[in-house]
Amino acid sequence: MKQDNKSPACRVVVLISGNGSNLQAIIDQSHTGGYQLSAVISNRADAFGLQRAAQAGIATCVLDHKAFASREAFDARLRQEIDTFAPDLVVLAGFMRILSSAFVQHYAGRLLNIHPSLLPAYKGTNTHQRVLDAGEALHGASVHFVTPELDGGPVVRQAVIKIAANDTKDTLAQRVAIEEHKIYPEVLAWFAAGRLVFDVDGVTLDQQRLPTCGVQSQENSQTHAN
Ligand code: GAR
Repeated sequence: MKQDNKSPACRVVVLISGNGSNLQAIIDQSHTGGYQLSAVISNRADAFGLQRAAQAGIATCVLDHKAFASREAFDARLRQEIDTFAPDLVVLAGFMRILSSAFVQHYAGRLLNIHPSLLPAYKGTNTHQRVLDAGEALHGASVHFVTPELDGGPVVRQAVIKIAANDTKDTLAQRVAIEEHKIYPEVLAWFAAGRLVFDVDGVTLDQQRLPTCGVQSQENSQTHAN
């Protein structure tokens, strides 16, 4: 959504399951990012991110997936709840649920996720330990549009970190989180400004097709496209 004096900010609904540190970064950078958070929805009542949202005056909602008979039933209710806020963009920020194809297709082109690895490597969970076990030299985080394939949609933005000899899964988690908190709000700002588009022709930023790794940056360096 293009920003000008007349058009309202891009409306965002964020889905979480836990701590919500990415949510916090997204909240903190909303004033300069041209987007506004309409609601935060969690599938867990004890998610700390709900307190972060309430603190920021953002509407919250808990939908416990365990109360639903099937994934499809939960996803249908979730979709109904999200759509009451008429969002331009739906953002998964540590939302630890696999989403059904029908849900993903309903939000085609306006559903983003962040994942703690250099996708397409290390899809799934426990990524920090897995990269260490494999003796990788590089690790990082990826922001991507969501498609029905788990962690498989086109990558928009990647932050790369070099793994040090003394890194543990905990230090990697901390270092990756610092990068995540930079790149996720940045991607939201691109989307809000109408610069980032995912349609039948693929993903473009400023009308330019992105490489498969998206816009990439190294830890402690500047973004290549601002
Ligand atoms: C983040 O590291 C995010 O990349 C990861 O969960 C963490 C949530 O932290 N997401 C996934 O693993 C999704 N496959 P947060 O709740 O503090 O933002």
